Amino acid sequence: MARKAPVNSPVLDPRRLPRHIAVIMDGNGRWARRRGLPRAAGHQAGMASVRALVRACDELAVPVLTLYAFSTENWKRPPAEVRFLMSLLIEFLRREIDELHRRNVRLGLLGRRDGVPATVLKAIDRGMAQTAANTGLRLNFAFNYGGRREILDAVEAWNRQTRRPPLTEENFAKFLYTAGLPDPDLLIRTSGEMRLSNFLLWQLAYAEIVVTPVLWPDFRKKHLLAALTEYQQRERRFGGVEAVHA
Ligand code: FPP
Repeated sequence: MARKAPVNSPVLDPRRLPRHIAVIMDGNGRWARRRGLPRAAGHQAGMASVRALVRACDELAVPVLTLYAFSTENWKRPPAEVRFLMSLLIEFLRREIDELHRRNVRLGLLGRRDGVPATVLKAIDRGMAQTAANTGLRLNFAFNYGGRREILDAVEAWNRQTRRPPLTEENFAKFLYTAGLPDPDLLIRTSGEMRLSNFLLWQLAYAEIVVTPVLWPDFRKKHLLAALTEYQQRERRFGGVEAVHA
């Protein structure tokens, strides 16, 4: 099925949207604490933001969206919170997969499978199988994901090859979890923190970074549009002196 035409917006240039948006969904805990609620309530509320963002990216015809849902460092959280975050991905897919499929979204997973409970893997695998032939928005969940781990995994995968291709940047990228996908043009991080937190270390080399003070559970389409407006005001030079319009 062909992609729908991008939605016209009075401020956004539909020809200069990012090909790939990556998001660090931060601030769930603070959102909950401000309301006197347990941290889990913040994560639960964050699911509605995921839904809103996916719909908005689909409407704008953004080709790839990658969401940082669980890092290799998040295992340090209390066991109950880890269990909750695991169950949330299952719940999200159970509730959303039919709509995602209707929207022609293709689901992807970036991260290590080992250590992730079989129930979570089963839900992801089913979602990926159901949406495998879809040609619209590619929605990646970075889950049990670590940027350094990904680079080491790529080195190991390259090393396992009997006929190793020369280690150019282009060849190396083919061994990353994101093989075949464009690098993110835009990284959005919510809740005001100015860190990469081990997210897509290789791929974010030339991404424009927009940090918003909005806490993740409050993030909606208008915040995405604000980030995109800021993105389009940036001059991207990729180390050169001339502005490059991708
Ligand atoms: C960071 O906030 C958020 C996470 C570690 C989890 C991200 C999960 C969601 C947004 C829920 C939706 C997930 C799926 C899979 C649909 P934090 O807990 O570090 O917040 P804090 O910095 O305020 O404590």
